[in-house]
Amino acid sequence: MKILAIESSCDETAAAVVEDGRKVLSNIIASQVESHIVYGGVVPEIASRMHCEAISSVVREALEKAQTNVDDIDAIGVTYAPGLIGALLVGTNFAKGLAYSAGKPLIPTHHLRSHIAANYITSPELEPPFLCLVVSGGHSHIVAVNDYTEFKVIGKTRDDAAGECLDKTARAMGLDYPGGKNLDIISKNGNPFAYKFPHPKTENEYDFSFSGLKTAVINTIHNQRQKGEEPDIADLGASCIQTVTDILTGKLMAAAEKFGFDKIALAGGVSANSKLREKITELCSEKGYKLYLPDPDLCGDNAAMVGSQSYYEFIAGNIAGYDLNSYATMPLDNAVF
Ligand code: KG4
Ligand code: ZN
Repeated sequence: MKILAIESSCDETAAAVVEDGRKVLSNIIASQVESHIVYGGVVPEIASRMHCEAISSVVREALEKAQTNVDDIDAIGVTYAPGLIGALLVGTNFAKGLAYSAGKPLIPTHHLRSHIAANYITSPELEPPFLCLVVSGGHSHIVAVNDYTEFKVIGKTRDDAAGECLDKTARAMGLDYPGGKNLDIISKNGNPFAYKFPHPKTENEYDFSFSGLKTAVINTIHNQRQKGEEPDIADLGASCIQTVTDILTGKLMAAAEKFGFDKIALAGGVSANSKLREKITELCSEKGYKLYLPDPDLCGDNAAMVGSQSYYEFIAGNIAGYDLNSYATMPLDNAVF
């Protein structure tokens, strides 16, 4: 079964053709990052406009690269939630129009479920159940993936996501957007134990909270500057990433033990982080857990992962009407459309 998938939830306009959930025939991404750098983050209105400009050609390119056409496609999958509402609406409405005119089924696909599905592409042998840490710019979840469309959120952030914390602290350090990626690069030369930051306590021990760390790092920068000193960005970045990594992996490993998972996966933009990948690899190997990491190219937003998850949503009978709406927020484990 060939699915044309469309993604526009944030600042990448993306389209892909994926066969039977695992075989990527094309994967086209038009990134807007360069246009948002000057503002230090994604400007929603600019993102929506740029999606409008790019979407037709990105979809056409995805079909051409896959050497196929709309008639030959079996269904159209689209990210309908969660994300920037104006951005989501562009992809959703384009998919609706195309599906309606071509008489194809329309599959509503949750963005974070798609991030998890990136692992099915990288590791074709992976099947649920497994435990997944989903870490992106807007979300930090520990998720029990009980089946392809059955999830239970075991823990999530009470405030900022890990990616948000890295982006904002990187910005305070004078690094360009996307900060997480630039922090990863710069922190390779830093001492991860140069600065000590606290680990927050949460009522549910599997929940996260990163706003305190964000404030602590920003305060450290301000305090040093008030004393006329310039913080060592490499050391500070490395210490911040070390703290985020310790918190994420500590809770993930505790959840795996408590809920009896011996298969662990990472997903989302922050899962591209080299320290996080290194540390979770080490911990899983100590415990004898099987670890699945998405290919770095599939960690960030892309439509191949949407094509993968859409296949399993289709099999589960999750087909939308041509009146599908988009939603800025939507729970991962109880997604409705
Ligand atoms: O999943 P994603 O591409 O978009 C959302 O759904 O939010 O995640 C974007 C986040 C940003 O916060 C970005 O800074 C972070 O992923 N990110 C990284 C790395 N690459 C992207 N964070 C740490 N290390 C990286 N290498
Ligand atoms: Zn994402």
